[in-house]
Amino acid sequence: MKIGIIGSGYVGLVTGTCLAHLGHSVTCVDNDPEKIRTLKSGKVPFYEPGLHEMIENNVAAGRLFFVTDISKIVNRCSVIFICVNTPSRPDGSADLSFVENVTKSVGKHLRKFCLVVAKSTVPVETGEWIRRTLKRTVRQGVPFDVASNPEFLREGSAIQDFMRPDRIVVGVETQRAEKILRELYASMKSPLIVTDIKSAELIKHAANSFLATKISFANGLSRICDAVGADVDKVTLGMGLDPRIGNQFLRAGVGFGGACFPKDLKAFLHISEELGVPFGVLGEVIRINDAQARYFSEKIMNRLKPLRGKTLGVLGLAFKSDTDDMRNAPSLAILPLLQKEGAKIQAYDPQAIEKARPHLKGIKYAADPYEALNGAHAVVLLTEWKEFLSLDWKRVRRGLKGRFFFDGRNMFSPGEMKKHGFHYFSVGRPSA
Ligand SMILES: NC(=O)c1ccc[n+]([C@@H]2O[C@H](COP(=O)([O-])OP(=O)(O)OC[C@H]3O[C@@H](n4cnc5c(N)ncnc54)[C@H](O)[C@@H]3O)[C@@H](O)[C@H]2O)c1
Repeated sequence: MKIGIIGSGYVGLVTGTCLAHLGHSVTCVDNDPEKIRTLKSGKVPFYEPGLHEMIENNVAAGRLFFVTDISKIVNRCSVIFICVNTPSRPDGSADLSFVENVTKSVGKHLRKFCLVVAKSTVPVETGEWIRRTLKRTVRQGVPFDVASNPEFLREGSAIQDFMRPDRIVVGVETQRAEKILRELYASMKSPLIVTDIKSAELIKHAANSFLATKISFANGLSRICDAVGADVDKVTLGMGLDPRIGNQFLRAGVGFGGACFPKDLKAFLHISEELGVPFGVLGEVIRINDAQARYFSEKIMNRLKPLRGKTLGVLGLAFKSDTDDMRNAPSLAILPLLQKEGAKIQAYDPQAIEKARPHLKGIKYAADPYEALNGAHAVVLLTEWKEFLSLDWKRVRRGLKGRFFFDGRNMFSPGEMKKHGFHYFSVGRPSA
């Protein structure tokens, strides 16, 4: 099939590349000329394991193209995926202006049938709004259809998630749209769920909100564990082995971040309020998450006070491991609070330093973890990169000025870190 992808960010680029890998002819559009220049020169504008090689192979095979102009793809593709960003507005609602621009642009150029599919995460009833917008903008008599195909990939394992998803959700209103999407995904083995468009839109918001709720639940629990000296990892293990609960995402830490959970929760809460059926629990999930960064910062402040003149060696800045994405990373909330109290920060992240620089000022960025920890009074771990598991702790201890270790991801066992000579604090577990 000939596919057009509008918006070549994390979702668009992975979607386009994977669809090309499945044998389709794919053109990715982005209105950021720098991004398209980078892609055309054989580079990838962000870090995602395996993506670079896959893009290279599909470009070489003549199945993957990059352009800046929507008009170049509209009448050449039978399916167009909208993959643009849908950020939060100040009131929490989803800013659909990018979706609107793209929809109008597609409508303006459309001369023959095309299926327009929203892959961006959008509030329920956006599909209907896209249909109305297209109807207003296309030339009279030009046929089109609209569908929803929410994306569930996770940054860091995006290719695997796209190629072998737990499920593919397609929201359609016509048999023609269903047939096209079934054909598009025909070679994939995952279960394909066909719903109406509104239900598909709700599946995405509901799934992200539920996952975020599990994280906030574990974080709320961690504070109770801290108050009584219990171990949150053992509590969540004991809960999660019940298959009705499950242990995934039931982990305490510094809170969730990234481009999706915070904004999707706010957008879902906002639309529920607009519909007159406020989904109040989502507000509490957001509040617990916002408070968790401060909670962890205060742990550090209380142990090290006064922070003025102390140096903190920070391991990890990205919102999670295996990505360079800094959007809503907990480090963006935690480090300024510590700096405000007078702490000096030396930080290392395997991938995210360049993306962190514009947001985190006054920080000494290090080339490796040992340099970040050299001369520091304490270790502060904020992202669970695997490489931190195999650090040479003797070498770290030799370079450190103090022995405090604050683990915001419960990556290590308190007993083990005590053996390495650290005074170790984590989230919701007894210190050692
Ligand atoms: N990042 C994720 O892990 C993830 C996972 C599932 C769903 N989503 C959803 O997918 C959507 C995209 O997310 P993302 O992380 O890929 O965002 P992104 O910011 O990385 O990419 C969006 C891209 O769209 C481009 N764009 C904006 N307006 C455009 C226009 N008029 N014409 C052409 N290109 C335009 C931007 O330049 C940008 O490159 C969002 O709705 C997000 O919630 C994201």
